[in-house]
Amino acid sequence: MKERIEELRSGFSLALSAATDDAALEALRVEYLGKKGHVAELMKGLRDVEDKKAAGQLINTLKCDVEAAIAEAKEIMRRAAIDRKVRSAKKYNPTLEGGAELGSYHPITLATREVEEIFISMGFTIENYNEIVNDYQCFEALNIPKHHPARDMQDTYYLDNGQLLKTHTSAAQNAIMKKYGAPLRAIFPGRCFRNESTDACHENTFFQMEGMMIDENISISNLIYFMKTMLSEVFKRDVKVRLRPGFFPFVEPGFELDINCEICGGEGCPSCKNSGWLELCPCGMIHPNVLREGGIDTEKYTGFAFGLGLTRLAMMKYGVKDIRDFNSGSLKALSQFKSI
Ligand code: DAH
Repeated sequence: MKERIEELRSGFSLALSAATDDAALEALRVEYLGKKGHVAELMKGLRDVEDKKAAGQLINTLKCDVEAAIAEAKEIMRRAAIDRKVRSAKKYNPTLEGGAELGSYHPITLATREVEEIFISMGFTIENYNEIVNDYQCFEALNIPKHHPARDMQDTYYLDNGQLLKTHTSAAQNAIMKKYGAPLRAIFPGRCFRNESTDACHENTFFQMEGMMIDENISISNLIYFMKTMLSEVFKRDVKVRLRPGFFPFVEPGFELDINCEICGGEGCPSCKNSGWLELCPCGMIHPNVLREGGIDTEKYTGFAFGLGLTRLAMMKYGVKDIRDFNSGSLKALSQFKSI
């Protein structure tokens, strides 16, 4: 009897793995558990067995195993059928007539996310900030009092209520210092607006990513280290950069960090105003007045800040020659970033 049961077991598992639909499972169930099935036949055979108890137990275990295996196989098939149905179902979208195409991410979104990842891995938090700010946030808190000539560099869109469209992401520095205090590591990407006459490298709407790191003993070498790491991660190769003095009232000393134009290889083209270099990431040591205005103890803390030109970075990274393509809304241009 024992051998017969073993034989039936292996026959069952073979037949089960070959069963591909409900009908095959049902046939298998009848074959084993039906009135005239193998289990019933074994039970009949019990009459002639000496150790009825042991044999009965073996038959019962076989019966239970067959029942459980069939139930499990049925459940797996049921789920697979639902899965197939869901997958093949047409997605309903009331605004489309049919043949819906998948959208793609905007190159600025792709560049932003990539830079965010890099800074997250270096312990920075990401802050989001308003596009409409006030004069204090955009200028005064940044050591640019009313009538300061530095305001000339940023031709600003003012709203009727005295607020303005932020001209740079630096406008969030003060609020973020007040929110977190020191020590602080944060980046805050955002859209900025300036009344620019547009050309291949100027737009009235563009993206920057501001970053701040405030702690004890922060120096220019920390600044240079972070900028270098970020650029080599973004471009995944060595890119030529140059650091030169730059004036911004909210940093002292201030620098311009330029990148060799990736479009013309440094020879000069409309994208880099024929200079071979592109101002990519102005930066500097945060001015004590700015720290103080943000409630930071300047005896204890120093910090650096940078204003990465995200739009310019995307131009260099993806070889976009004309900055105006980004806001063009042209699907022909933008859908090319699908696979990047
Ligand atoms: N906010 C400046 C601009 O848009 C750029 C900038 C310069 C940001 C130096 C900084 C900085 O954080 O340290 O022109």
